Amino acid sequence: MTDSYSTNPDINTLMSQMNLAEKVGQLFVLSAHDVVIAKKWIEVKHIGSFINLLGEQTQELQAVASQSVHKIPLLMCIDAVHGHAFWEGATVFPSQLGLSSTWNADLMRQVGEVTAKEMVATGVHWNFSPVLDMARDLRWGRIGETFGEDPLLIQTFAAAMLEGYQGQGLHHPESVLACAKHFLGYSETVGGRDSSEGEHTERKLRGLYLPSFQHLIEQGCLSIMVGYHAIDGTPCTINKWLLTDLMRDELGYKGVFVTDWDNVERLHTEQMVCASIKEAVRLALEAGVDLIMGTEDYTDIVCDLVQTGQLSSDIINAACARVLDIKWQLGLFDERRTTDIADLAPIIRSEQHRELALEAAYQSCVLLKNEERTLPIGDKIRRIAVIGANANDPEAQLGDWVLGTFPFHVGAQPDENITTILDGIQQRAGQSLDVKYLKGCEVDATNVSDPEEVTELAKWADMVILVLGDTLAQNGEMCDRADLDLSAGQLELCQLISDTQTPLVTVLINGKPLSIPEVAQQSDALLEAWNPGAKGGQAVAQILFGDRPPVGRLSISFPYHVGQLPVYYNQLPGWHGTPPKYIDLPNEPLFPFGYGLTYTTFEYTNLRVTEVSDGLKVQVDVANSGEQSGTEVVQVYINDVYTSVTTPVKQLVGYQRVLLAVGECKQVEFHIDKCALQLFTAQGQWEFEAGEFEVMVGGSSSDADLHKQRIYLD
Ligand code: GLC
Repeated sequence: MTDSYSTNPDINTLMSQMNLAEKVGQLFVLSAHDVVIAKKWIEVKHIGSFINLLGEQTQELQAVASQSVHKIPLLMCIDAVHGHAFWEGATVFPSQLGLSSTWNADLMRQVGEVTAKEMVATGVHWNFSPVLDMARDLRWGRIGETFGEDPLLIQTFAAAMLEGYQGQGLHHPESVLACAKHFLGYSETVGGRDSSEGEHTERKLRGLYLPSFQHLIEQGCLSIMVGYHAIDGTPCTINKWLLTDLMRDELGYKGVFVTDWDNVERLHTEQMVCASIKEAVRLALEAGVDLIMGTEDYTDIVCDLVQTGQLSSDIINAACARVLDIKWQLGLFDERRTTDIADLAPIIRSEQHRELALEAAYQSCVLLKNEERTLPIGDKIRRIAVIGANANDPEAQLGDWVLGTFPFHVGAQPDENITTILDGIQQRAGQSLDVKYLKGCEVDATNVSDPEEVTELAKWADMVILVLGDTLAQNGEMCDRADLDLSAGQLELCQLISDTQTPLVTVLINGKPLSIPEVAQQSDALLEAWNPGAKGGQAVAQILFGDRPPVGRLSISFPYHVGQLPVYYNQLPGWHGTPPKYIDLPNEPLFPFGYGLTYTTFEYTNLRVTEVSDGLKVQVDVANSGEQSGTEVVQVYINDVYTSVTTPVKQLVGYQRVLLAVGECKQVEFHIDKCALQLFTAQGQWEFEAGEFEVMVGGSSSDADLHKQRIYLD
């Protein structure tokens, strides 16, 4: 009689034939610096998953695994967070933060689909993506990996990306297994310090962070990565309440939990909650972790724990069954899925994929200022000066998790695939305009290398396009910042140019919102391009020259100053002051969530809010009152006026992207489900509370852009 740890009889039969060491090997994801070591770990340690191995390496190792006793296929994983960017020549999309500025879920799905296709073509079937982290403290280094600050956008875009990765069914030849990360509340830790203490109550975890993971599980997500941080003193990696009681027992999660890179080791070396690695491994497995990203010697530790009665074999069997189930559902036992490395050229370098990268980069750009219609560049502009290091820096433009960054330090994405901002402007200008480039200063410089040269060039030009921002070294893991200002050199560069009175268009290439009040004031136009990916230069040029109008909107708020944090729009009420503000700062963010300009204007009239059987119907007329067609992102926010607990002064509950021709007027209608009007009570329940609701509709979260109506619901 075989023990049934799986609902799949074939898995149970397989497990009945496996010994302890073979089962333990399935619980580890190792990073092998080369195939020789990996082969040994498969043969000696029965390791079942590897990270950061690609292409032929995966074929070689799958062949070794197919020669092993039980022929269990390997699960290969990687971080393809904005395209399969660790593979040379693959399609590099904008960062997640850039993608979220498109407010276009279907685009997210398409990005997921292309990423999955290019991963599978190189033998990799598990993507440590999407990131569900919520941007709450901009000092944190990984803001660029998030879909911004809003729960609805994060949930919507993560689900769309999941659909792209595995929506055709895990077994589909072009599907990969998605991995929702980092569980739970990893992005809001003390001081924005990466992986430090998360001061979350259970109510906040359940009410703010858990819903997006619940939604992904309901949509079929079968792997979740556990965050490094601790919650209220207990590291997530050994938090049995979080992983087992809450997720498995209460919510019925059937997928696997994988630790982050070396979560287990850090329990012992950094969080100091385990006196030995052995204790850390035991506690992690007992808490509910299935796969450990660790080192090969952990396998002996686990076998010893079981053989000495310190760890139940049931835990090993249950975890092993879940891992084998995943491999089975992914179709890896079907050899074709593991050895058939496709002919890469038609996939990795496909024109269709590059066109999607361009479309994503274009839609991710957000126009933040455009005084006196500085943009689009008009016929009178014949001489353009492009200034700034980030105008011509592929690394800054592509962002994190790209070939050439950790852990793939060797190599880089080929320049012929990348259109820098300077390339894009030069290509678009062609022979008809005179374009000159000057770096002016390094991004992290304390001063401008040659102020006279900058001033002379700015005076020569009819327009300056100044490209500012930050660098890869200022973003990512363990790159938290206490200050969000631009470097002194960049500020001096902007001032020098502004002093010449030449029209100044500033383009931002940056991994997170920066405190740029001076640049915003001195620039006649300001375009946020984030890390726009390989086609960023072409996309920016299309907008600057007016080939296509900007359509992006902020998914994250910009502060005046780092001291203004937290600056997210859905603040809780109660701060004293009329209006509540720091005495030395404005009370609004520098640029609000949901904000973005186009080359036309929109007018909202005739807001109607009516109660319907299962919620609210919201209707509003939106007209294009400008001289160009344009896309408006109509946003609906709710304020539940009097509640049993403090609730956000406004919360996004719906949005629609609406294309309007000149003079066109459309009635835009929303159905807001009653469950979207619920709040998370002090008793930890989602409940609707009768009372007054304020419905706000407009083109950003700023009160200046919102039309409001109150309605009583019972
Ligand atoms: C890193 C990151 C995580 C990533 C993992 C594997 O430490 O925290 O997001 O998936 O290691 O590269």
